[in-house]
Amino acid sequence: AVAPPCAMVIFGAAGDLTKRLVVPALYNLVSARRLPAGFQLVGVDRVARTAEEWRTDLGEAMKGFVAHGGGEFEADHIDEAAWRWLTGRMTYLQGDLTEPTTYRRLGEHLAGLDKAAGTAGNHLFYLAVADRFFSVVVAALGSAGLVSEAEGQWRRVVIEKPFGHDLPSAKALNASILETLQEHQIYRMDHFLGKETVQNIMALRFANGLFEPLWNRQHIDHIQITAAETVGVERRGKFYEVTGALRDMVPNHVFQLLAMTAMEPPISFDADAVRDKKAEVIQALRPMTSRRALREVVRGQYDAGTVLGQPAQAYRHEPDVAADSTTETFVAWKLKIDNWRWAGVPFYLRTGKFMRRRRTEIAVRFHQAPYTLFRGTDVERMNPNWMILRIQPDEGIALEFAAKRPGPSVTLGNVSMDFAYKTYFDMAPNTGYETLLYDCMIGDATLFQRADNIEAGWRAVQPILDAWAHNPAKDFPNYAAGSDGPAAADELLARDGRAWRPLA
Ligand code: BG6
Repeated sequence: AVAPPCAMVIFGAAGDLTKRLVVPALYNLVSARRLPAGFQLVGVDRVARTAEEWRTDLGEAMKGFVAHGGGEFEADHIDEAAWRWLTGRMTYLQGDLTEPTTYRRLGEHLAGLDKAAGTAGNHLFYLAVADRFFSVVVAALGSAGLVSEAEGQWRRVVIEKPFGHDLPSAKALNASILETLQEHQIYRMDHFLGKETVQNIMALRFANGLFEPLWNRQHIDHIQITAAETVGVERRGKFYEVTGALRDMVPNHVFQLLAMTAMEPPISFDADAVRDKKAEVIQALRPMTSRRALREVVRGQYDAGTVLGQPAQAYRHEPDVAADSTTETFVAWKLKIDNWRWAGVPFYLRTGKFMRRRRTEIAVRFHQAPYTLFRGTDVERMNPNWMILRIQPDEGIALEFAAKRPGPSVTLGNVSMDFAYKTYFDMAPNTGYETLLYDCMIGDATLFQRADNIEAGWRAVQPILDAWAHNPAKDFPNYAAGSDGPAAADELLARDGRAWRPLA
């Protein structure tokens, strides 16, 4: 279906996020015929620019993505008609985010569009700005009267992580935003939830009779969640130095994967039904003590090495990074979920920069057969029953088990039943933002984070942040760029008689 008429306002219109993801996603939505005739896109930024220059700039960027490959935007050409459809609806307003006049002018502009362009008084404000502006912009929108909802109209605000940098700051941010907005108007975005394969975890579990009966402590030995990247910190040293891998990836992206994997079945797919179950699972994480944080959470920092055949420099030599930095670029964590379904089943999480392969996956390890008839064969050395949910790249699901090798003697081999998305479905080009933007326009908040979800995530990692603050790492750098991470991460599993699935 087509989204309802609306004007979307992007704060930070001249920035990188707008260029790389938001506008390509809107273009893809135009191509998929999801945007209504009464759609308008208003760019707001401090940078002096005419609307024409803004459109041209974005057009050039899109062409660049096609020519040289551009992050998440994949297309072999730009469909001129779709691009014209979009640019014909784009206007630009120069203004400082801290100036009340910016919002007054914006209000007048939007009122004009509602009358002349049929946007029906529905306004979506997208904050593609640094997080220190979130509260500022929301408060200013409130003072200018731009977020009060008249009968039959909606006003929504999208913000994207980081939502704070620890529990107190996340609480403060939520509180400050909730002074102006009602919870139903806030769309806190975690871009992992825009990934098809993350959404598919729910389909796999709750649309099939086959898997869910096995999805518990009776049948599962442990679960490994990996989000390994082959990029380093690139040019984000300044941000990363005060952030680190734990804050950057775990309470948000990795916990989304964890919640989708471990939550109880919701009673419906209503936004709150799903978000309630996700919140419960994060609340059930066994609270960390400082002693356990230092023992069961491993941190790492990359040294120089070779990633995908290319030389890579040590984190401490990256731009804007201190030569003696103790910021972690890798984290591995053994955590427990204290509920009936998962009691005794460890979840091992790991994420890192500059690792051997780019791989985001959830690997579910089932129990061994209770008694092996195949003594003396290689089955005793094998780990045959795995289910692997490949989130990216090479999206799909594999089931690994043992099978008899053909021939007169009984020997076993590990085989895999493998479903790959691309062989079954036509995947339309997707930046991962299409679903999220569209859902926001139709008012479906299922894939967005509620205030309590955000706080639960921070609550779970806060003891680790505290323990690390008091005990700076002494062994950094401790893994080579292009490796599987520090040796301590292997020891974490070895202590339990287990091993990570290799990234190679
Ligand atoms: C971002 C982090 O939120 O997610 C980045 O700030 C990280 O550091 C990125 O690289 C990973 O997302 P994706 O979609 O590339 O897996």
